[in-house]
Amino acid sequence: MTEAFTLCLLFGMLLCGLLLHTVSQHGAKVDKSSKKPNFIIILADDIGWGDLDVNQPEAKTNNTPYLNLMAEQGLRLTDFHSPASTCSPSRAAILTGRYGLRNGVTHNFAVDSVAGLPLSEVTLPQLLQKAGYYTAMIGKWHLGHNGPYSPINRGFNYYLGIPYSNDMGCTDIPGYNLPQCLPCDRYGPQVFRLKKSVQKGCYSKVGLPLMENSSIVEQPLDLWTLTDQYKSAAIRIIHNAREQGKPYFLYIALSHMHVPLAPALPPDPPYSSYHSNEVKVYASSLQEMDNLVGAVKVTSDDIDKDNTLIWFTGDNGPWEQKCQYAGNVGPFIGKWQTSRGGGSAKQTTWEGGHRVPTIAYWPGRIPANTTSSALLSGMDIFPTLLSLAGLIPPSDRHYDGIDATHALLYGEQTGHEFLFHPNSGAAGTFGDIQAVRTGKHKAFYITGAAEACDGSTGMQQLHDPPLIFDLEHDKSEETPLDVGTAEYQAVAERISRRREELLWDIATDESVATADYSTDKSAAPCCDPKQAVCRCLTQG
Ligand SMILES: *[C@@H]1O[C@H](CO)[C@@H](O)[C@H](O)[C@H]1NC(C)=O
Ligand SMILES: *[C@@H]1O[C@H](CO)[C@@H](O)[C@H](O)[C@H]1NC(C)=O
Repeated sequence: MTEAFTLCLLFGMLLCGLLLHTVSQHGAKVDKSSKKPNFIIILADDIGWGDLDVNQPEAKTNNTPYLNLMAEQGLRLTDFHSPASTCSPSRAAILTGRYGLRNGVTHNFAVDSVAGLPLSEVTLPQLLQKAGYYTAMIGKWHLGHNGPYSPINRGFNYYLGIPYSNDMGCTDIPGYNLPQCLPCDRYGPQVFRLKKSVQKGCYSKVGLPLMENSSIVEQPLDLWTLTDQYKSAAIRIIHNAREQGKPYFLYIALSHMHVPLAPALPPDPPYSSYHSNEVKVYASSLQEMDNLVGAVKVTSDDIDKDNTLIWFTGDNGPWEQKCQYAGNVGPFIGKWQTSRGGGSAKQTTWEGGHRVPTIAYWPGRIPANTTSSALLSGMDIFPTLLSLAGLIPPSDRHYDGIDATHALLYGEQTGHEFLFHPNSGAAGTFGDIQAVRTGKHKAFYITGAAEACDGSTGMQQLHDPPLIFDLEHDKSEETPLDVGTAEYQAVAERISRRREELLWDIATDESVATADYSTDKSAAPCCDPKQAVCRCLTQG
């Protein structure tokens, strides 16, 4: 740095820029006086675009006061998308900056999945860790929990959380779910001899584990104290990083708002007074989530306020079949689909499945109380954080995310020229491109629905020519453009050309990976295989 700086003085500003750029490319510190920023990514689970008060002021709810404050002191991104509309593919794309067609993760991993995110993929925490960051993760991983696939082996110095979704295992006091699941067995034969659960949608064979680093610390975990555990861990991590004098990356993948919900309401066994509290459950859980986000914000503000970016977003839209325990999509109700049956949120490429509430907060760097309608994606987190940290991603692979620094810091209102939405379970082959966004337009090559609250499921339909909606005038995706119009023709032509280009690019990308989705009983996390539901006998 000192040499570079002397040369800067000698050769003036232009060369200085070039030189510093080169230095940063080789991984050296750019400038000792300008600290690398800290990053906190908070990823909510199954949250709806309309769940945040700031996205629906007319609803006059007051469930998310801390997120409201973050929006008022930061930037609200209104056209921000999850990279896929289910858990594992969305998370894989966020951590690699690549579509599932490249990173191999196109659908969810199971409790007994042997593998996970392909090991040839390079993750964001790996790159930040290598550059001197302290990296920690709290919450849901869902990218493979065995051996080399666990968070600790994919770039995190510390991990506390659930290796997959919070409904993928029984607990002693179940949270609110639909159907309501039974508590774990206390006694009984060895877990793997148990018959398959008779309860639809309820996992009962293996207790839900809580992992710290690579060890199971609770099984089944206590859902009702999980939020507090996450909160203390987050506060501890932020303080520790400060003490170590290192910049940090903290990835908090919340259980909220995924069922089972377990808000501190009511005080008694929650499933007993289930009916009287039903309506309050979702709102209480939102408030609880907001409170956790608030604790993180307050701690970060105390410790290193002007040097910390907090980026809140979601992994996909609400799980509609959970009815009163599912989130609110706001105006993005996918009418074309719902009028034909089926749900239009999680697992679908309708806006409700994809458009996620997003707020970026960085005092002094991100202009306060601003909004951006730039078309952005969770995949952009990868290149954006690297860019803000002065790092360059490995050049041996292609990326799909874009550097959104200008949208975050300088009010830029454009993002992706084209953004592709993969199939995540509603129709066709996993990972296939179903829909494409460009500007205000959205084209569907394939439509499909998820199960709705009323139990209906729509049919998959192929569209050639594609259905094209104008989202500016038709947020509810009700009426596609007339194929005969010049507007339709122009959009269809551009989209089809770009889609071909992307498919060709992927076909010729030598770094494309394939995930191993095989399962085996022995791959399930198990504290004590001699106990019913793998229960840890020694836990406090
Ligand atoms: C987790 O791993 C980190 C890094 O190896 C270590 O410092 C920490 O003590 C571990 N924590 C536990 C509870 O094992
Ligand atoms: C934020 O912006 C809104 C709308 O532009 C305005 O009504 C509000 O007063 C602003 N808040 C602050 C704290 O400046």
